[in-house]
Amino acid sequence: MKGHNAVQTAVEPALTSLLRVCVAALILTACDPVSAGNIDSAHKGAWRSRAGGLSVSIANDLPHQRYLANITLGTPPQRFSLTIDSGSTDVWAPAVNSTGCAPSCPAGFLFNPASSSSIVDLHEVFNATYGLTPDLQVVGEYYNDTVGIEGAEIHNMTVRGFSSDHVGFHSLLDADRFLQIAVGNIPPTLYEAGYVGFIGLGSRYAEAIFRNPQAGPPNPNDTYPTIYDQLYLQGYTVRRLFSLWLGPQAAQRGELLIGGIDRSKFKGSRLRSTPVLLSDGLFTDWAVNLTSIVDSNNETELISESDGIEVILDSGAPNMYLPVAVANAVAARFNATIHSGFPYVDCAVRNLWNESLSFSFSAVEGHLSPHITVPIPEVVYPFGDPTNIGEVRATDGTPLCYLGVQGTPGPIYLLGHTFQRSAYLVFDPDELTISLAQAVGC
Ligand SMILES: *[C@@H]1O[C@H](CO)[C@@H](O)[C@H](O)[C@H]1NC(C)=O
Ligand SMILES: *[C@@H]1O[C@H](CO)[C@@H](O)[C@H](O)[C@H]1NC(C)=O
Ligand SMILES: *[C@@H]1O[C@H](CO)[C@@H](O)[C@H](O)[C@H]1NC(C)=O
Ligand SMILES: *[C@@H]1O[C@H](CO)[C@@H](O)[C@H](O)[C@H]1NC(C)=O
Ligand SMILES: *[C@@H]1O[C@H](CO)[C@@H](O)[C@H](O)[C@H]1NC(C)=O
Ligand SMILES: *[C@@H]1O[C@H](CO)[C@@H](O)[C@H](O)[C@H]1NC(C)=O
Ligand SMILES: *[C@@H]1O[C@H](CO)[C@@H](O)[C@H](O)[C@H]1NC(C)=O
Ligand SMILES: *[C@@H]1O[C@H](CO)[C@@H](O)[C@H](O)[C@H]1NC(C)=O
Ligand SMILES: *[C@@H]1O[C@H](CO)[C@@H](O)[C@H](O)[C@H]1NC(C)=O
Ligand SMILES: *[C@@H]1O[C@H](CO)[C@@H](O)[C@H](O)[C@H]1NC(C)=O
Repeated sequence: MKGHNAVQTAVEPALTSLLRVCVAALILTACDPVSAGNIDSAHKGAWRSRAGGLSVSIANDLPHQRYLANITLGTPPQRFSLTIDSGSTDVWAPAVNSTGCAPSCPAGFLFNPASSSSIVDLHEVFNATYGLTPDLQVVGEYYNDTVGIEGAEIHNMTVRGFSSDHVGFHSLLDADRFLQIAVGNIPPTLYEAGYVGFIGLGSRYAEAIFRNPQAGPPNPNDTYPTIYDQLYLQGYTVRRLFSLWLGPQAAQRGELLIGGIDRSKFKGSRLRSTPVLLSDGLFTDWAVNLTSIVDSNNETELISESDGIEVILDSGAPNMYLPVAVANAVAARFNATIHSGFPYVDCAVRNLWNESLSFSFSAVEGHLSPHITVPIPEVVYPFGDPTNIGEVRATDGTPLCYLGVQGTPGPIYLLGHTFQRSAYLVFDPDELTISLAQAVGC
């Protein structure tokens, strides 16, 4: 999720209440394993027979609106399932004795630096801010340690985080109503939800150590290689890019391919690139120019060619967070009603496979602009009957489903899962582009 003055949405209020009732309720369909023949760019390691980058399986944790990848930290390796997040950069796990659960913290997803023989304490404060207010923090310490991902070991990587003393959660809807929520420790509901740390896939200039004003004026010398940098520097990959295929909402698994592009996961033969927008000349976020959104219903332009907006492609954000007028137009189109602050629509909207929203982005000069079509059922969650996750009904008893397009006053807008599931995305920090194509389904 996008950190620092943006949106934090890992667990929204509507969901924290849902979490108690759901967990086992979803039956997801599995995607077929994809053949390995179409992958660009080899890695150097022999640890995986498949050519073309480091393939990391990601699990669609739909009830909690996040994608998880397994990694190990430390020696002996401790296994963690962490949220993949292109909207932040640090990699961190929750510490033992996190104040949200102490003194009886569960084992398993809490990391104890003292029990890793390879750890180096860098004695630097990790202070990451997620969300709209500075109160939403994860505070801890930076360490170097060995990190394992799906067979690849990254030695001497700086593992940020731990000691999540001040974790707050915030959901973005109307800023004036949701400006400050839940500051402090990880509340019990988040433990029940199995709240985990992050695998940040953002720019090194989004590292907390660079962004946090407490660490003094931003100094590029303070930054450290990201996880995809480190895999490249250590020869596990030969290209410093990564690709993301979340798969459709109903898929159990997607793929994060570090160092490669998997051509079997998108339609057509070509990706189209859009330039990453810089901030004062610096690559700070996976931000691009969204130039139009067209509603297939009557070809209405929700955002028109003349007023492109800057959006961050944030794999840590569940929804699309767009200008209020745009979100309202989508909501009105599906007769959305607001429940506990969130838009819900008739679950029958999940059957409208013939309707869609089409997104266009600025082209790289001299090239065609990327277009992605998002079928309407992909922007509506199955929350409500029959999955019984936070069941919401209209006054006449009609089951309602959660709409994954929401409004924000800006200036930062996000395209999260409800957009990304329809796209194959290649994040390239050297070309400073994001390349997109229509994703294949299962
Ligand atoms: C992570 O590991 C757990 C335990 O082995 C396994 O059940 C789960 O499927 C793994 N997740 C992914 C995304 O590979
Ligand atoms: C966690 O808390 C318990 C009880 O206060 C204490 O005995 C233990 O040393 C703490 N562990 C760490 C790693 O700080
Ligand atoms: C973390 O950063 C915030 C915002 O800059 C600051 O208010 C807070 O005091 C910092 N906390 C620590 C422990 O450094
Ligand atoms: C990590 O770095 C330290 C010092 O820089 C070095 O002594 C050690 O061998 C390295 N460990 C690995 C696993 O590369
Ligand atoms: C920690 O790891 C970074 C690479 O991520 C390396 O540059 C640095 O020297 C290491 N520091 C220590 C004290 O081992
Ligand atoms: C960063 O490090 C380089 C090389 O050590 C040094 O010349 C430069 O002044 C440093 N920059 C800052 C902002 O500290
Ligand atoms: C889509 O299909 C539904 C019924 O399946 C129909 O009511 C609706 O008019 C169709 N919309 C379009 C744009 O074709
Ligand atoms: C975004 O696209 C619009 C429409 O093409 C254009 O007017 C605007 O200048 C672009 N903004 C940036 C930051 O590139
Ligand atoms: C298209 O549909 C929207 C909502 O469904 C409506 O507000 C708008 O007036 C329509 N535009 C045209 C040109 O029919
Ligand atoms: C929204 O309400 C209008 C008027 O009742 C109805 O014609 C339309 O079919 C509804 N649209 C959806 C998606 O439910």
